Amino acid sequence: MQLMNNKIYQERRNTLAKKIYAKSGGGIAVISTAPELARNRDSEFPYRHDSDFFYLTGFEEPGATLVMEIKSGGKNYELQSHLFCRPKDPEREIWDGIRLGPEAAPTALGIEYAYSNHELDRKLGELLADQDAIYIRLAESAEADRRLRHWMKQVRVQARSGINPPSELHDVETLIHEMRLFKDTNEIDTMRRAAAISARAHIRAMHMCKPGIREYQLEAELLHEFRNSGAQSVAYNSIVAGGANSCILHYRAGSTELRSGELCLIDAGCELDGYASDITRTFPVNGKFTGPQRALYDITLAAQEAAIAMTKPGNTFIQPHDAALKVLTQGLLDEKLLKLSELGSLENAIETGAYRRFYMHRTSHWLGMDVHDVGSYREDSESLLKEEKPWRILKSGMVITVEPGLYVRPAADVDEAFWNIGIRIEDDAVINESGCELISRGVPVKADEIEATMKNA
Ligand code: GLY
Ligand code: MN
Ligand code: MN
Repeated sequence: MQLMNNKIYQERRNTLAKKIYAKSGGGIAVISTAPELARNRDSEFPYRHDSDFFYLTGFEEPGATLVMEIKSGGKNYELQSHLFCRPKDPEREIWDGIRLGPEAAPTALGIEYAYSNHELDRKLGELLADQDAIYIRLAESAEADRRLRHWMKQVRVQARSGINPPSELHDVETLIHEMRLFKDTNEIDTMRRAAAISARAHIRAMHMCKPGIREYQLEAELLHEFRNSGAQSVAYNSIVAGGANSCILHYRAGSTELRSGELCLIDAGCELDGYASDITRTFPVNGKFTGPQRALYDITLAAQEAAIAMTKPGNTFIQPHDAALKVLTQGLLDEKLLKLSELGSLENAIETGAYRRFYMHRTSHWLGMDVHDVGSYREDSESLLKEEKPWRILKSGMVITVEPGLYVRPAADVDEAFWNIGIRIEDDAVINESGCELISRGVPVKADEIEATMKNA
């Protein structure tokens, strides 16, 4: 993996420390990485670090915990970071690979102290002594709760020596997630590269597609491009959906044969150096859209363009969705999939949610280290009522997807010509000072361009 400079992780830890200092005047923050997960006997799922932990350390090994000690130093704070990681073990390293180990970690990662992870419980007992506040992930797991109780107990038994445990418990995730919502130039550069690889993978799938091929074979072409380009993984399970399967939102690539006259919907993106990409394209299996397919495709693309035009700083998160919804619903009325005679007006078709039968998801989500990335979708507000909190205002450095779709399942009151047409078009947009940059447009999106791409395979 291509890691960012140690300084970047140090700066992130400092920013988090500053937030904790501002809130509590100091304290201890504890952030562990993800556990390894067994798949079946003697076999594990490919290991993936925890995104928050990686964001603060750049360290990818399992079995590690970051403890940040934020001390009040007059008008300012002092931060000391402690990494607990797997100790060197020549025997285990023969089987599982080289470990960094606590001796090499401080220099390699630019961290103040490192210890074996076997020391974690004992050391936390020391570090939590006389601290006012502890910042952890709240309600993470029964095991995490058990460990916290153990650490607290170690401090409590020292009460008669005049040592007190923390009395404030805070969620550390909220603070980290607010930081992760805004991507810096290094992160955006990585996301551009991830999106470029995914775009090439989609083109490869379009080139390889022909009637008779099966969904899993196109999935293999996507994976080939991802791994051959250096991406470590998929960012999420690839969706390759032929015909009726295109109307199943969370379909996985299965073994359905792709047939002439049907559509193929691919929602797939790689993860590169810890960052996700997320692209959807829908194309005709035989390379030429039918009339009804083309009609719904052009409506979906127009909806995406309307949403993209609203993807700019100062607008709220929901404005691109509202813009897409208007175009999609008007298109459904034009194609008589929704009946104007019954609904009366476009506004009523939107207000009553009549469109939901054909468009049942939102148009955007945050994108970053996680495909459905972290960060609040609402502005912080004094109000306790969630409904009253305004939608988040888009700002430079945020990254969202723009992914309208239309999904028509067979039904007696629906023109048969549209049955089993499922279309989604998804691109990744980096909000900048003046609007947004679409980083995933290395793959064609206009119907004519898709047909040309498939013809030139
Ligand atoms: N690929 C997941 C999503 O589009 O939200
Ligand atoms: Mn998405
Ligand atoms: Mn997607």
